[in-house]
Amino acid sequence: MDAISLNSIRLTINEKKILDNLTMSIPQGSAVTIMGPNGAGKTTLLRVASGLVRPTSGEIYLFGKKFDKNQRLLGYIPQNLGLVGELDVFTNVMIGALRRMPRWRAISGTYTKDTVSEAYSLMYDLKISHLKDTKVKKLSGGEKQRVAIARTLIQKPSIILADEMTASLDFKAAVTVMDIFTEIKEKMGITLLMTHHNPEIAKMYSDNVLILINGKIEKNIPSKEITKETAEYLYET
Ligand SMILES: Nc1ncnc2c1ncn2[C@@H]1O[C@H](COP(=O)(O)OP(=O)(O)O)[C@@H](O)[C@H]1O
Ligand SMILES: [Mg+2]
Repeated sequence: MDAISLNSIRLTINEKKILDNLTMSIPQGSAVTIMGPNGAGKTTLLRVASGLVRPTSGEIYLFGKKFDKNQRLLGYIPQNLGLVGELDVFTNVMIGALRRMPRWRAISGTYTKDTVSEAYSLMYDLKISHLKDTKVKKLSGGEKQRVAIARTLIQKPSIILADEMTASLDFKAAVTVMDIFTEIKEKMGITLLMTHHNPEIAKMYSDNVLILINGKIEKNIPSKEITKETAEYLYET
């Protein structure tokens, strides 16, 4: 079963083709990375897949059903994360749960015991429990990524779309984040669609790599076949 499939997606803005007849599907439970030069359309593809941007034409299916804007199967982690720097880690994680709690609880901060214990359990899994009272603006890049992952996981998505999670991290920090994320993703049976800049990270943490150039999928490569040449092809053409 495919967790997500895109069927002949086109997106045209001001007569410019941003996504060009794009068809792809991501099997349930797999991890897939989109790679491609700057401006290829990677971020736009994730935004379309997440329902944030409506394509000009084409359809999106989630688990075989036509995309419904209000469903909660999808979690999206934007490149800038969208965390609130002035708030602590715990509160940022709880923000993810807001859309499944009544407004009065959100406003008054009267969270249910269950939601609080889910947040604690996720912070534990992501190894950020010791930071729960720390303001997010004080964290390192890798710690912020883990807060963003926890905030998304508390929504209980089946699919997570994550844009350039490792772009601002050095290799060691990237590996730490991706090791933890991959372990949780496996445990929860989540399907991952990501973009990464570093071919080595893509190779380590995905089953397949899709090469996107000018809004078109040019290649679908099993990640074990990723080589230095793949990277050269991407960044020098
Ligand atoms: N809202 C928008 N309006 C006009 N052009 C856009 C918009 N969003 C993206 N683009 C254009 O679409 C192309 C792909 O952008 P993007 O998806 O951000 O690429 P990538 O993430 O691969 O670097 C770029 O040429 C960009 O300028
Ligand atoms: Mg981008």
